[in-house]
Amino acid sequence: MDMWKGTDEAARPQKRPSKAVRTFFRGIITLAFLYWIARDFMSSWNYYVSLTTHPFATAEEKFSWSSIEPTTYLNYTPCFGKFQCARLDVPKNYNSTDPDGSRTQIAVIRLPAVVPVTDPRYGGAMLTNPGGPGGSGVELVTNSGALLQQIIDSELNITLEATDSEAKYFDIISWDPRGTGDTTPYLNCFPDSLSYNIWSSQTTEDGFPGSSSGATSNLWARVKARSVACSQTDEIVNHMNTPVLVGDMVQILEKHGEWRSKQAETWLASAEGKVATAGKARSDNLSHGAIVERTRWIKGEEKLLYWGFSYGTVVGSTFSAMQPHRVDRVIIDGVVDTNDYYVAGWLKNLQDADTIVDRFYGYCQAAGPEKCALNRGTSTATDIKTSLESTVSVLKEDPIAVPASSTRGPEIITYSDVRNLVGKAIYSPLAQFPKMANLLADIIYGNGSAFADYKQKGNTKFCPLESCKSESDDCQRISLNFEVTHAILCSDAVDVTYHTKQDYVDYVAALFNQSQWLGQYWSQIALGCYHWKAKPTWQITGEEIQADTAYPVLILSNTFDPVTPIYKELTKYSGHTQAGKFPGAVVLEQNSEGHCSLSSPSLCTAKHVRAYFQTGKLPDVGTVCQPEAVPLVGKVSNGVVTLSTEDEKLLAALEDLSRGVLFPSIL
Ligand SMILES: *[C@@H]1O[C@H](CO)[C@@H](O)[C@H](O)[C@H]1NC(C)=O
Ligand SMILES: *[C@@H]1O[C@H](CO)[C@@H](O)[C@H](O)[C@H]1NC(C)=O
Ligand SMILES: *[C@@H]1O[C@H](CO)[C@@H](O)[C@H](O)[C@H]1NC(C)=O
Ligand SMILES: *[C@@H]1O[C@H](CO)[C@@H](O)[C@H](O)[C@H]1NC(C)=O
Ligand SMILES: *[C@@H]1O[C@H](CO)[C@@H](O)[C@H](O)[C@H]1NC(C)=O
Repeated sequence: MDMWKGTDEAARPQKRPSKAVRTFFRGIITLAFLYWIARDFMSSWNYYVSLTTHPFATAEEKFSWSSIEPTTYLNYTPCFGKFQCARLDVPKNYNSTDPDGSRTQIAVIRLPAVVPVTDPRYGGAMLTNPGGPGGSGVELVTNSGALLQQIIDSELNITLEATDSEAKYFDIISWDPRGTGDTTPYLNCFPDSLSYNIWSSQTTEDGFPGSSSGATSNLWARVKARSVACSQTDEIVNHMNTPVLVGDMVQILEKHGEWRSKQAETWLASAEGKVATAGKARSDNLSHGAIVERTRWIKGEEKLLYWGFSYGTVVGSTFSAMQPHRVDRVIIDGVVDTNDYYVAGWLKNLQDADTIVDRFYGYCQAAGPEKCALNRGTSTATDIKTSLESTVSVLKEDPIAVPASSTRGPEIITYSDVRNLVGKAIYSPLAQFPKMANLLADIIYGNGSAFADYKQKGNTKFCPLESCKSESDDCQRISLNFEVTHAILCSDAVDVTYHTKQDYVDYVAALFNQSQWLGQYWSQIALGCYHWKAKPTWQITGEEIQADTAYPVLILSNTFDPVTPIYKELTKYSGHTQAGKFPGAVVLEQNSEGHCSLSSPSLCTAKHVRAYFQTGKLPDVGTVCQPEAVPLVGKVSNGVVTLSTEDEKLLAALEDLSRGVLFPSIL
């Protein structure tokens, strides 16, 4: 329900909150991999524009990133309540040897561990990436850092007297990738926000490629205009891709090591530290010597603890290949095939997408009319499928005209609207199928007014520009758009600019054949690269993504993921596509639908993740975890009658995470 709040507010034209109060996307942030960036088809998609004040920010807090001085070390300032923020100043171009070369300032955020770094139970910092490409780590941590921390931290209740050697407690750290969010400079592809807003609202008119006679040609031309300009306007586009991001992660790790040892030194030199360590023998882990040793900055060797989602798995895989000696714990969750990614194929994603829609029909039948509005009482899965598919084909010729109401202007509901709705819902079926069923029932059996309300809710201003940071500007900044996403993924990819318009037509057909629900939308990802002109300084190839890592990688894959399929036949016979690149990697399958494990709460999965971070224990090969609930139908019994208090708390955190933190939200 909390998702409503942000969107309702965003629907009203509102004055942008003062600069002091950082605006944030509420509840719904980054939609994981290849986040669903649908603005180009429909400005009404609200999930990444529902800006309201940050949940933790109060008017008194007055935090603003621009008030922080960028530094070449981590110099944290309290921000957004319980968090700490720093602007890490790093070279824009790691290839440049010019000491006066231009710089970029990475917005880094840290949720502190529940113990100080001097405590023997301090486990280090877990880095995380929400996907995108280009998703905001700052938003991920402010919205969900505490929940992620709850999963990986030891469940033992903290009492500072306890010196249980097994328990570990972690910092959670993330950052806004180059060119995005609060990292400066920001990628600008438009001269001002008005031009951006007009462009964005126009793009809604054409619909999906293949949805009408002119749609494909219009999209081709439109994406060409945008990509050519965007890839040439701004120098930062040459320094935003994944190897460079890995370079930034190395900086963050090293600077964290430096920060950790400084923190410890400062405490040891304080009166409190002196008293606490006085008279303790070196063998005591609370002694001065033991603390210095434990917190020492190991230059060039600082290790990575990481949990990355969606495109964050490209990051995890690339880091593991480039810096295998630093891998201490790496979880890749919702796994992208990096061979396909680095050639801009985008052909290894949608294999299981339509299966999730087929499962929806079955769940809707089983759930009955109370829980699934598309079930008219005795509807079978086949009835539900037939009614939806025939509606979609009728809409292709005849969109629904919905007259204005007292609170909403006139609206039409198109073929592309319905494909968009379903395509988005399958990212997180547990949270979204009930709402999807209501909206589909409204157009099939009702008058379309609920769908029209929904479509218009997200109409709001967009602004990706630096100028939006100024107090006077009333536009709302978005953290993720096609410009940013393409700047990253197209400059990662080999050159694909030789493609013709006919190639694109064929490509759309091939993707549609993979998935009638996601194929057309998906085709825009590679299309952006067909026109991308930037020449990145630092590239890596798919073949280079493999390594013998210092510690085995843990891979999480859902049985049915709409955009990062598990390829079960590979899992069984020759290893998961990514697992094969990292000897010793273990695949944990979660038997649920949706994108990334967090789309469905599973105590089993969470406990494996926790064990991996706490002790390094990997699941047995072939482990399949069951979810706690299935879409529409509800809770399933996994043989446990009553949960312990700790498990109840963990489940509550997982349920929060499944409701839209990483996923597109329908409402
Ligand atoms: C930039 O640095 C990387 C890593 O050292 C190297 O692989 C790449 O070739 C360099 N690029 C150029 C243009 O020098
Ligand atoms: C630990 O338990 C005590 C007493 O049951 C409780 O007051 C405290 O909030 C708990 N602390 C944490 C971190 O859960
Ligand atoms: C710290 O020392 C205590 C007491 O000797 C011991 O029980 C505990 O396991 C040690 N903790 C660590 C992290 O080494
Ligand atoms: C459309 O249907 C809703 C719900 O049944 C109803 O409240 C509303 O008045 C209807 N609107 C029109 C214009 O008929
Ligand atoms: C559509 O998919 C089927 C089954 O995967 C395949 O055999 C066929 O060649 C595909 N057709 C096109 C046009 O890609």
